[in-house]
Amino acid sequence: MPVQIVIGAQWGDEGKGKIIDVLSEKMDLVIRYQGGANAGHTVYVGDKKYVLHLIPSGILRENVQCIIGGGVVLDPQAFIEELDILSKAGINYTDRLFISPRTHIIFPYHKKLDAQSESSKGKKSIGTTGRGIGPAYADKYGRHGIRAIDLLNLDSLKIKIEDNLKFKNFVLEKFYNAEPESLEKTLDFAKEYASKLKPYIKETLSLIHSYQKEDKPILVEGAQGALLDIDYGSFPYVTSSHPVAGGAFIGSGIAPVKSEITGVLKAYLTRVGNGPFPTELDDQIGEDLRKCGHEYGATTGRPRRCGWLDMVAARYSAQVNGLTNIALTKLDVLSGFDTIKVCTSYKYKHEELEWIPADENIFSAVEPVYKTFKGWNRPVDTCTSFSDLPDETKEYIAFIEESLEIPVKYISVGQRRDQIIQK
Ligand code: IMP
Repeated sequence: MPVQIVIGAQWGDEGKGKIIDVLSEKMDLVIRYQGGANAGHTVYVGDKKYVLHLIPSGILRENVQCIIGGGVVLDPQAFIEELDILSKAGINYTDRLFISPRTHIIFPYHKKLDAQSESSKGKKSIGTTGRGIGPAYADKYGRHGIRAIDLLNLDSLKIKIEDNLKFKNFVLEKFYNAEPESLEKTLDFAKEYASKLKPYIKETLSLIHSYQKEDKPILVEGAQGALLDIDYGSFPYVTSSHPVAGGAFIGSGIAPVKSEITGVLKAYLTRVGNGPFPTELDDQIGEDLRKCGHEYGATTGRPRRCGWLDMVAARYSAQVNGLTNIALTKLDVLSGFDTIKVCTSYKYKHEELEWIPADENIFSAVEPVYKTFKGWNRPVDTCTSFSDLPDETKEYIAFIEESLEIPVKYISVGQRRDQIIQK
């Protein structure tokens, strides 16, 4: 059975949580493979809203086993807070939620360094979520990060924390002119969360491989979006992990195998944080999209920047991720707009570009070239089949499929689980 990978095809916030939740119904195992508590996956079950930052969205399906993969950077405090929310909601996660021993741990000093790095950059700041993501991945690649497995040996953990703090405090005090982190408090933090996390830390690779051997359905869940990828996104305005589909194998521990790769694509476009956004709308239409689509960050509450769908970015994403199909989301938000625009190429000076430029200066300066579609002046949120959709909506979907040369397989027309059309 091919592995099902679900990734964000844009700059994040495409509505992955809902798609993962819907697809999880038929899964036995769901693995989150990258990022950390910077993500915010919103899922509605009936009237109840769940916002998951770290725990795979599959946890809301009681027969699904869930793994936080080695590619994730885990904030212990956020993890325990999330467990608390699940407990209060009556969701049982005992014996079905595991943390890979290879997962790196975020400490309070990572968040402090994140904040200092951002404020030192001034106008050139990335606009991070402040969750310590960049510094934690920097430690991983610098080979002095602390992993979940380290929490199980308090003696060696103490030495690792001491070594880390020596350098971190040097940077905080001497470079950023900031207060150092207290060794004592950091050790207390480590001890407290080592005992809280211990029951969940388990060798997950054997579990994954046994599921693969038995040909059980596995879903690998991405966070953020391909355009925020550290290598293939709009660098340096990116996150520090690999939201692209290639990251799914490394971050989960599954060997590259034949996969169904679903790219979640919002029917328009949003971005949080700084960086190029050619189709951004700084006008009433942008405001209307934000209002109708409730476009405020699930993690930070920041208003999201809004704009028209960008097919240059979507095509790039389809190719970089090897998407096999699309889950088109928030189509209902576009109901009521008289006309809808889609960017088909970029203009830069006298050139027409059909590809995202690697140069951030060029990417910031391109002008979008638009194709205009007639809007559909009736709600689509009650449509239950493709044939129910207005002709104008079908035309919009057909255009996306033709431009990407891949099918739109799922169409989300509202927040609820049942507001989804399988085409
Ligand atoms: P970081 O991941 O907190 O370091 O933030 C780096 C960039 O990624 C910033 O522009 C953030 O706004 C953006 N970002 C991180 N997580 C998300 C997300 O879940 N949705 C949308 N943008 C995100």
